Amino acid sequence: MSKVKMAVDLGGIQMRNPVNTASGTFGNGVQFEGFYDVGKTLGAITCKGVSAEPWDGNPAPRLAELRGAAIMNSVGLQNPGVHGFVKRYGEYLESVRSRGCAVICQVAGHSVEEYERAMDLFEEFAPFASGFEINISCPNIAEGGAAMGATPQSAARVMSAVRTRTKRPIVVKMAPHDVAAIGHALEESGADALALINTIPGMSIDVRTRKSRLARATAGVSGPAIHAIAVRMVWECAQAVNIPICGIGGVTTAEDAAEMILAGATAVSVGTANLTDPLSAKHIVEGLEEWVASQGATDVNDLIGAFEC
Ligand SMILES: Cc1cc2nc3c(=O)[nH]c(=O)nc-3n(C[C@H](O)[C@H](O)[C@H](O)COP(=O)(O)O)c2cc1C
Repeated sequence: MSKVKMAVDLGGIQMRNPVNTASGTFGNGVQFEGFYDVGKTLGAITCKGVSAEPWDGNPAPRLAELRGAAIMNSVGLQNPGVHGFVKRYGEYLESVRSRGCAVICQVAGHSVEEYERAMDLFEEFAPFASGFEINISCPNIAEGGAAMGATPQSAARVMSAVRTRTKRPIVVKMAPHDVAAIGHALEESGADALALINTIPGMSIDVRTRKSRLARATAGVSGPAIHAIAVRMVWECAQAVNIPICGIGGVTTAEDAAEMILAGATAVSVGTANLTDPLSAKHIVEGLEEWVASQGATDVNDLIGAFEC
């Protein structure tokens, strides 16, 4: 048995280790059970964004690979609505929770009222959720999404509204800009934890056809190419807030996860790496524990924010 303590507390969400999965890149967990025992291995899984009513998402093509260093997506939060989600995944997610892995349900909306409505439905029909993640950072939807999280004021408005609807922990998924000011506003309005970053808006043009490689002109960039930017933003945000942070962005190896922790993250989410190697998150769990021991530490919590400038 390892002597290293890996359990962390993400704003009231108890995780057996710091490794989570990034919304939209891990299905809802069940798709990865053929590769390893998700419920017995990970600290948490974060489900795909779900709105009160079903959404169709954007037209295809919605994914493109950029020279192996990144991908672009414009999925646009396609989802079956809370009732469809609970019907399809509720039983499975209950089993994930019973195996010791936290389940974070992601809440999406186009307006404050839609977030409230989705939150109410989750609160009533998703007893298996250990906590919720409010997505105010999707760059791929016309209304709501990133626009809701664009300023400290608009972000705080959504947060204050959902805070009144549940006593379970709330994490907020942030866009890659003004993370210190917006993070501070979210903490003030009742967020229990922050998750950053969502994808960075980008463009990729096929020079033969002069058209976008995706159906839309712009899309969200993710993967190893954004990792250094994400680490910098986690570090900036960690200095502005007192609530825990889940670091996201290009985490592909245990070393990438360790960097996030040193920059101030309590947990990390594995995203695009799940799509290139379905065993990534499992390997990161194993490698992270070895890294903690290699630092002469007995508790991963002692290394959070231990970056020396
Ligand atoms: C195909 C795809 C779908 C995604 N769907 C969501 C989503 O539903 N909600 C969300 O907050 N982020 C979504 N994201 C963003 C990821 O959760 C993550 O924040 C981002 O990809 C950066 O992490 P990474 O570089 O490790 O992939 C999606 C990303 C990809 C690639």
